[in-house]
Amino acid sequence: MFDNFKKLIGIRQKIILGIDVGSASIKAVEISRKNQNFILENYGELDCSLVKKPSIGEADKNIISFTNKQLAEIIKAILRESEMRSKEVVFSIPDFSSFFTTIKLPIMSQEEIPEVIKYEVKPYIPLPVSEITLDWLITEGEISKTSLKILVVAIPNEIIDQYKEIAFLAGLDLKILEPEVFSLSRAVVIGEDREKTVGLVDIGARSATINVLEKGMLKMSHSFNVAGNEIADAIARSLNIEYNEARGLKEKQGLTIGTGKNAEAEKAMIPLVNFILEEVKNTFRDFYEDEGKKPQKIILAGGTVLMPGLKDYFSSEFEQEIAIANPFLGLSYPTALGSALKQTAPSYGVAIGLAIKGLE
Ligand SMILES: Nc1ncnc2c1ncn2[C@@H]1O[C@H](COP(=O)(O)OP(=O)(O)OP(=O)(O)O)[C@@H](O)[C@H]1O
Ligand SMILES: [Mg+2]
Repeated sequence: MFDNFKKLIGIRQKIILGIDVGSASIKAVEISRKNQNFILENYGELDCSLVKKPSIGEADKNIISFTNKQLAEIIKAILRESEMRSKEVVFSIPDFSSFFTTIKLPIMSQEEIPEVIKYEVKPYIPLPVSEITLDWLITEGEISKTSLKILVVAIPNEIIDQYKEIAFLAGLDLKILEPEVFSLSRAVVIGEDREKTVGLVDIGARSATINVLEKGMLKMSHSFNVAGNEIADAIARSLNIEYNEARGLKEKQGLTIGTGKNAEAEKAMIPLVNFILEEVKNTFRDFYEDEGKKPQKIILAGGTVLMPGLKDYFSSEFEQEIAIANPFLGLSYPTALGSALKQTAPSYGVAIGLAIKGLE
């Protein structure tokens, strides 16, 4: 009866945290749900470069260069600063800690699929099946009607245990762990884009991931470790300057035509941006060979796409419409926040998608 009462007067039904432990910054959002409406209650992030790194050997393997304890402290600090009080959390698993593969299976029942997948993915994954957890998605075909195409994500158990420990140390109740590609798609491929074939390009700090979605369903995913960090590194090496100065040049000037130091920086960035572009084109080509279709639109996500001039650079290389991701569009929030949110929007996709998952 109490639940019905809540529904009638529209009190929020549930509230949850979505936390993206990225390699450049940790982003947290607190989202509540009122009927079909998702409401942004709070958001905050902490730039990891502001936190002192542990000495070599001390950091836990695979998750960026901090110990679990430090990551938990960073999360606690974000939650404190942004006044988030929820204890339930959904975390993402970074693309660079996951293995993706697509497999084709003959007709079979739902119950048979997990066992068969375990066997089929063996050759593609450099770890024993006993050390991984599998998540999968049917991307084509219907169970017991046609053959199936399945996108499989394998996550090392060691990584899962690390995230469990981080949640525990931060005093949070970990509800779900999800590969970040699923969360990102949920948050940024919305509205009429869910009817289209969309190329979703996430360029973060350590890794970039290129996805193709059809009618909101993930069909293809390809990830590699060239992204914002490497672009700043190239500038630092080429101009023989400190990393932070290089990062500043990248973020403020980017690919807009400059002179002197700026022109040098741009010259250093171009080969890496071109590398990413080529990977996008190759992924689209693979998709075309498989499915005979081209993405109708390209959505750019991740902090690196904020680089001045990057969107125009993409526009000059692709015939499709190019948009910068805005995951806040799927949420309700005070209008006064609008312009501030737009500035950071492309890097919040994963965190927002995680919270929505927890509320679904
Ligand atoms: N205005 C800007 N111009 C260019 N790059 C930017 C800008 N703002 C942020 N970045 C870059 O975006 C990157 C951070 O993006 P994001 O927050 O998506 O990464 P992350 O999720 O922490 O990393 P990863 O997903 O690789 O683990 C950094 O390399 C940062 O320098
Ligand atoms: Mg990221």
